[in-house]
Amino acid sequence: MDVPLRAAATTRRAGPARADLPDLAGPGFWRLPPSRRLEAFARLRTLAEPAYFVERPATWHGRERGFHALVRHADVVTASRTPRVFTSAPGATTPPPARWVRALFGDSMVNLDGPGHARLRRVVSRAFTPRVLAEAERDVAAVAARVVDDMIAAGPGDFVSAVASRVPFEVICDLMGIPAHCRPAILDEVGRASENTGVHRGLRLPGRGLRALARMQRMVARLGRQRRREPAGDLLSALVTARPGGETLSGRELGAFFSLLMVAGVETTRNALAHGLVLLTAHPEQRALLAGDFERYADGAVEEIVRHATPIIQFRRTVAEEYALGGRTFRPGDTVVLCYAAANRDPEVFPDPDAFDITRSPNPHLGYGGGGPHYCLGAHLARLEMRALFGELLARTPGIRATGEPVLAPSSFDHRVRSLPFTLTPP
Ligand code: HEM
Repeated sequence: MDVPLRAAATTRRAGPARADLPDLAGPGFWRLPPSRRLEAFARLRTLAEPAYFVERPATWHGRERGFHALVRHADVVTASRTPRVFTSAPGATTPPPARWVRALFGDSMVNLDGPGHARLRRVVSRAFTPRVLAEAERDVAAVAARVVDDMIAAGPGDFVSAVASRVPFEVICDLMGIPAHCRPAILDEVGRASENTGVHRGLRLPGRGLRALARMQRMVARLGRQRRREPAGDLLSALVTARPGGETLSGRELGAFFSLLMVAGVETTRNALAHGLVLLTAHPEQRALLAGDFERYADGAVEEIVRHATPIIQFRRTVAEEYALGGRTFRPGDTVVLCYAAANRDPEVFPDPDAFDITRSPNPHLGYGGGGPHYCLGAHLARLEMRALFGELLARTPGIRATGEPVLAPSSFDHRVRSLPFTLTPP
């Protein structure tokens, strides 16, 4: 069983007494149903200080004493937009990647700051220019149509494997130019990598899945070498071929970037799509609104699904210099967790925050991050995918709905859906 972490903080006005504070990474906290976790976050938001401190258990990895959790919208935004103080190195996940993992994979852009981060982001941003994305929009629509064709042909089953994980995987492979014959092997390794991540003292750890990721990176690096010799006009070729004034990725950087896309771009979107079906099933009036005038409500629905589901629960930062935030002083070396899941239900910003309302406007949610240099590079692509898939589903399978609760993987990092039963028959 997990080791409890002790929360320490003072309380604001009539906030909860210290003894009532939830143990954010305490026994089973991340195995609680999301509604119970949200209740806990709601209590933490009433604290007098902007962050509450979670002490590390004796068995914790590394030398940190614990971490400060930021749970209010304004504070997560401030930390995200002050990268000089709140740095992503040595790692944006908790616990940070071990030294041997960094040596094996090279530093992923999520874990870098300053010029090193800016260089990588500049190179890979070629994948996300308006021109590339305008072309991608057609491909995304074609992928969504194909996946829905297959889903209808196969009939009811598990929405995650049949639909939600296929759409983002195919879209990213199309975007990169991964040949069709390489995709099954890559998908196998991605599956192995995510199956072998587990919850360890309340936190998701990569574990044996790293070996699968390493194999996948080698495959992609091999493809990169081929494209360097014979460019094919796809993104892989663009990333590895020098252009006048342009920079390229090394084979190792290419592998690390592809892994990042598989985790950051496939898993997040797959979870958003699965939570989307759950929410549209649980709220028939919102679904009717969306189906009745898709063009009018689609953008709002896509944003509200991401706010409500918050596919990435939190990222972390490390404090580089002393900084005062709302009366609390952070010291160099402190770990700060940006809790997007808590910020996205902050009643100071979202009236009736637990309601699922596709007409919510404005909807400044932090599902893609709180702004700043690491803001999600794929936010626009994710929106395109969600819009295309729900458009197809509502138009072609008006009876589609979830028939049970989603099976969630306990994780403090992502709001991951393992499986979700669905049917095509209306109730
Ligand atoms: C609903 C789907 C998605 C969600 C909820 C999501 C969420 C996030 C969040 C919270 C961050 C961190 C922001 C920060 O630290 O300030 C992030 C970063 C990132 N995302 Fe996404 N994301 C999604 C889809 C995608 C897609 C489709 C791609 C690419 C195809 C992608 C690529 C990335 C990359 C490369 C980063 C790192 C950016 C950097 O460090 O500079 N994401 N995403």
